[in-house]
Amino acid sequence: MDLTNLLQDARERILAADSERAIEEERVSLLGKKGLVSVQSRSLRDLPKEDRPNAGAEINRVRREIEDLLAQQKKDLDRLNLERELSQKIDVTLPGRRRHQGGLHPITQTLHAIERMFRAAGYSVEVGPEIESDYYNFQALNIPEHHPARDMHDTFYLESGEVLRTHTSPVQVRTMQNQKPPIRIICPGKVFRFDSDRTHTPMFHQVEGLVVDEGISFADLKGTVIDFVHAFFQRDIEVRFRPSYFPFTEPSAEVDILGDAGWSEVMGCGVVHPNVLEMSGIDSSKYSGFAFGFGADRLAALKYGVTDLRQFFENDLRLLRQLA
Ligand code: DAH
Repeated sequence: MDLTNLLQDARERILAADSERAIEEERVSLLGKKGLVSVQSRSLRDLPKEDRPNAGAEINRVRREIEDLLAQQKKDLDRLNLERELSQKIDVTLPGRRRHQGGLHPITQTLHAIERMFRAAGYSVEVGPEIESDYYNFQALNIPEHHPARDMHDTFYLESGEVLRTHTSPVQVRTMQNQKPPIRIICPGKVFRFDSDRTHTPMFHQVEGLVVDEGISFADLKGTVIDFVHAFFQRDIEVRFRPSYFPFTEPSAEVDILGDAGWSEVMGCGVVHPNVLEMSGIDSSKYSGFAFGFGADRLAALKYGVTDLRQFFENDLRLLRQLA
C-alpha cells in the first residue's frame, strides 16, 4: 500500500475512534507487531539495497505521525469527557437523602429513667434469672405448694420443674441471701405470664423494690412510692393506697393513680412478711423492710397514652419513632 494512502486512512480511523478502547484498537492495528506499518517495514527487504534508507526513513516518519495522531486524539477525547462531566447540572433544590437514626425502645427508655431515679435515691440495681426455680419464685416468698395465691400467676412451667419467673420478687430473695442490711435495691427485668389482652402481654417488664433496715415502716413505703410516682409522671399526680393481700407482705396494699380515665392500678406493695426475711437469713426481730413491684410497661403506657400494651411489642416503626 502506498504510504500516503495509509496515512490518510489512518487519520480517518483515528479521528473516528471515540473511546480510549477504540484508540487502543487503532494503535494495535496500525503500529502493532502485525499492524499495517510493520508490514511496510518488513517489505523493505524486497527493495534494492540503495533504495532502502530513503524508504525506511519515510516509514519512520509515517509511524511518528501516527503516534502523534493517536496521542492527540486521546487528549481531545479526555478534554471532551471532562467538559461533559463539568456541564452536568446539579439540582440543589432536590430533597436530601434522609438517614434514619436508631433509637431506644420506649420500654428501655422507661426502665433507664426508673433506674436513674432510684439510683439518685441511693438504691442499687440487681438482676436475676428469667428461668427461676419454684423455690425462689414461690416458696421463699411465702407461697408454699398448693397455696391459692399460685393461681393468680398464670405460670409457664418448664419440663425441668422450673418456671419462667412470674414476677421479679424472687430477686428480693436472692439479694437478701447475699447481702446484709441495710439493703436498698430495685430489680428490673422481664417476667412471663400465660395471659394476653389489651392490658396484658405474655412477657412484660416489672421493677421490684426492696428496702431492709432497722425501723423501716409502712410510712417509709408510702413516702417512697408517692415520691417515685410524682418523679416518674413529672407532676403531682394523685396517688391512693388500697388495702390488699400478697403472701410476701403484711400489711399489703395496691397503689392507684388518678388519670383522665379515672383510677388505674399500678403497683403492689407492703411491709415484708417476717417469714420472708427469716427464710432468707435476716433476723426479723431486728430488721424490717418494705417491698413493691410494678409493671414498667403499664407505667409507660399511662405516661405516653398507649391504650393497648401489645403495641409496645409489635414494633410498628411509627409508634417507636414517635416515642424515640
Ligand atoms: N410480685 C407482685 C406481682 O407480680 C407485685 C408485688 C406486690 C411485689 C407486692 C412486691 C410487693 O414486692 O410487696 O403481682
